[in-house]
Amino acid sequence: MTEQSMLDDIVASHKNKWLKKLAEYQARMPTVSSMLVEGKVTRMVGMTLEALGCQAAVGVRCEVENNDGESIEAEVVGFNGDRLYLMPTGSIQGIQPNARVIPSNAVYEVAVGESLLGRVLDGTGRPLDSKGPLNTTETIALNGKPINPLDRAPVTEPLDVGVRAINALLSVGRGQRLGLFAGSGVGKSVLLGMMTRYTTADVIIVGLIGERGREVKDFINNILGEEGMARAVVVAVPADQTPVMRLHGAFMATSIAEYFRDQGKNVLLLMDSLTRFAQAQREIALAIGEPPATKGYPPSVFGKLPQLVERAGNAAKGNGSITAFYTVLTEGDDQMDPIADASRAILDGHIVLSRALAESGHFPAVDIEASISRVMVDIIDQNHLTMVQKFKHIYSTYKKNEDLITIGAYTKGSDSRVDQSIMLQPQFMEFLKQDMHEPASFQQSQQELEILFEQAQQTEQVLQTVDPFEPMPEANKNQL
Ligand SMILES: Nc1ncnc2c1ncn2[C@@H]1O[C@H](COP(=O)(O)OP(=O)(O)OP(=O)(O)O)[C@@H](O)[C@H]1O
Ligand SMILES: [Mg+2]
Repeated sequence: MTEQSMLDDIVASHKNKWLKKLAEYQARMPTVSSMLVEGKVTRMVGMTLEALGCQAAVGVRCEVENNDGESIEAEVVGFNGDRLYLMPTGSIQGIQPNARVIPSNAVYEVAVGESLLGRVLDGTGRPLDSKGPLNTTETIALNGKPINPLDRAPVTEPLDVGVRAINALLSVGRGQRLGLFAGSGVGKSVLLGMMTRYTTADVIIVGLIGERGREVKDFINNILGEEGMARAVVVAVPADQTPVMRLHGAFMATSIAEYFRDQGKNVLLLMDSLTRFAQAQREIALAIGEPPATKGYPPSVFGKLPQLVERAGNAAKGNGSITAFYTVLTEGDDQMDPIADASRAILDGHIVLSRALAESGHFPAVDIEASISRVMVDIIDQNHLTMVQKFKHIYSTYKKNEDLITIGAYTKGSDSRVDQSIMLQPQFMEFLKQDMHEPASFQQSQQELEILFEQAQQTEQVLQTVDPFEPMPEANKNQL
């Protein structure tokens, strides 16, 4: 072997060795790219932390660690160049300049299982009650899995919500998403509580988002009670929690509902309130510099609402369903509030609670004229539908003429339809009233509506010769 060929051999073996090494490094490249790069907090404005040096995607969970080793959880909510914006999920107390930011590369998950029934959780999924550990069986994504809209079963069956006015006149379908529009203090919580106790749904998930802390205890102890709590899971994130936590609370309640739906259960999801959820997103979006649009709400708020609401509904045919009620605060009873407006467009119906009715002691204060259930025609029979249309027609005839009637400007006999509505109004109002401790099943509500019209016919016959403004003679009353 010549000296030259020996040299060539050595070069070739070195070359091979290096190529092998490089191939090994190359094989390790994906691992290198997912390496966690830490950063540090450079600025803090309000609740927003700015971090430099770290790399993490939006929605990723990070730990912000102080010099003393204590860490706070924060979520990446945006970025600007190499600057990340983070929002803490808990208290920001103790965060110092240059605090370490350690991305986890993990997205948020929810621990679920049958054992969640009867429990009260916070926005992180930890128990708030003192009933011991949760004993969950699996974890699912906080943001859920999208369902192909073509795979969803249509809404065809009614769901008994236990409230007469709704069952009879605004029938709710399994898998329907409704808004409960009302100002403050007109009976939203009591109505949600009645539904929780009296519905025939298998599981009830209640999301108390951004409301007063005091109300949480009141809702659980007094409104839900033991009976309601047994098949319910409550996620409570009061107003004093961070906006990220409030968003998480709403998504978590939805994830838990999805879990039970995927077990084939009919779930009733009650979210109080969608407005506070929207306000949480507004706080986050404004803090990271998104320009405000309608009434201070940045555009991302209107994108976030369907992200939440679209997760409710039916799964594929033969599987479970999520029927959802989202309360929407109409400040100063303004039905044109941007959140109310946006919600109306993305929901399958709305139930409006009227302050005037609540103030007159009429509960549940459902405004029959202003409320609508868009799937009703698909879920009730023709006879029921005819009665509903008749009821609404007579009711709105009275309402249109109410002012004239009350000031005595209407003369009996001017219009037979108005005469009829005046005669029937007291019975109609009585039908719509329901004590909070009284259940009314779907079948019962339907029957009572039939009885109401039978009685109405008799009343009309009895009162044909009687002045509707005169009190009814005792003898005639007995015939009703
Ligand atoms: N079905 C009912 N029967 C009798 N009273 C009722 C009924 N529903 C509501 N109320 C009365 O209305 C009050 C306010 O109800 P509730 O707390 O449900 O209102 P809300 O709309 O949830 O208020 P907020 O906006 O403050 O949360 C209750 O304290 C109760 O007195
Ligand atoms: Mg309330």
